[in-house]
Amino acid sequence: EKGAYPHYMLKEIDEQPAVMRRLLQEYSGKDGAVTIDPSIADAISEADRIYIIACGTSYHAGLVGKHLLETIAGIPTEVHISSEFSYNMPLLSKKPLFVFISQSGETADSRAVLVKVKKLGYPSLTMTNVEGSTLYREADYKMLLFAGPEIAVASTKAYTAMIAVFAFIAVAVAQKKGTTLDFDLIHEMSIAAQAMEQMIDEKALLKEVARDYLSITRNAFYIGRGLDYYVCMEASLKLKEVSYIQAEGFAGGELKHGTIALIENGTPVFAFATQENVNNNIRSNVQEVAARGAHTCIISMDGVTNHADDRIVLPKVHHALTPLVCAIPLQLIAYYAALQNECDVDKPRNLAKSVTVE
Ligand code: M6R
Repeated sequence: EKGAYPHYMLKEIDEQPAVMRRLLQEYSGKDGAVTIDPSIADAISEADRIYIIACGTSYHAGLVGKHLLETIAGIPTEVHISSEFSYNMPLLSKKPLFVFISQSGETADSRAVLVKVKKLGYPSLTMTNVEGSTLYREADYKMLLFAGPEIAVASTKAYTAMIAVFAFIAVAVAQKKGTTLDFDLIHEMSIAAQAMEQMIDEKALLKEVARDYLSITRNAFYIGRGLDYYVCMEASLKLKEVSYIQAEGFAGGELKHGTIALIENGTPVFAFATQENVNNNIRSNVQEVAARGAHTCIISMDGVTNHADDRIVLPKVHHALTPLVCAIPLQLIAYYAALQNECDVDKPRNLAKSVTVE
């Protein structure tokens, strides 16, 4: 039930810190170390390549998952859109493991891939929010998102839960391989949960940003580099889906290769700037669009750089977990933009919560 909340989407955004805490309980042992089902850690470390298969927001979580699996666990990982993979299967490695990510566990495009993968005899893992769903039942290995029912069509808490579960998997596999990590995920994840809470308390600011940047526009851009690029893809999907404002998420450096032609006086451009290694680059991309009249809004992270002029400054978290915190402003900005446009926030037109046709 949504109780005092006007919309499920808002309730589900607010629940995210609690979901992170639940996941911390579910995926840590008595000794306070990251713990996942050992047979899953084995299956992942035995694979020579992971193929993540998903659609929509889950695909965007998969992109972050790839970054975590590669940088923390050192496992080559590819991410594929289910409907593309089905009919244009890439050349596979010798020992692949398929990871299906799906909030509902019922998405037809992903189910079709699982059927093919099983026919080929490859192992599969499903990460889902719905125990007993089709993808859950049919995969060899399963992991739950523990996000609680997600009712709003726009996925919010399942997205951050997927990212968190990938972080647990990556660290568990690194531990198994004997890799020494220079951070304690349990500690960093609880810091991230707190940071998410702090951003949830910034609703007035995020509402104001939606009003200042999105009240009269028909389009908007999100730019970022590295993990921030993946966040931008999710930010634009969320905005399109609930507010019907046309949006694109772009790699900061790619805009000047064509799309910058769309920047006019007043075009809103949101830049996520949480990654230290590309901070100067993304800031010069912001300059490039500002020089062409864009209305720019920088969303940066405390402790990463000088952020005197940035509109939104996120509390500092470990660099691998920044998408968890970025999720809050991207979701709330979309939510308030949808309210401004008087859209049906929880049930956007033309969409269903789970897409059960291919
Ligand atoms: O249930 P799934 O995670 O498989 O759903 C995948 C997409 O249909 C879903 O994420 C969709 O993109 C959301 N409406 C986005 O908010």
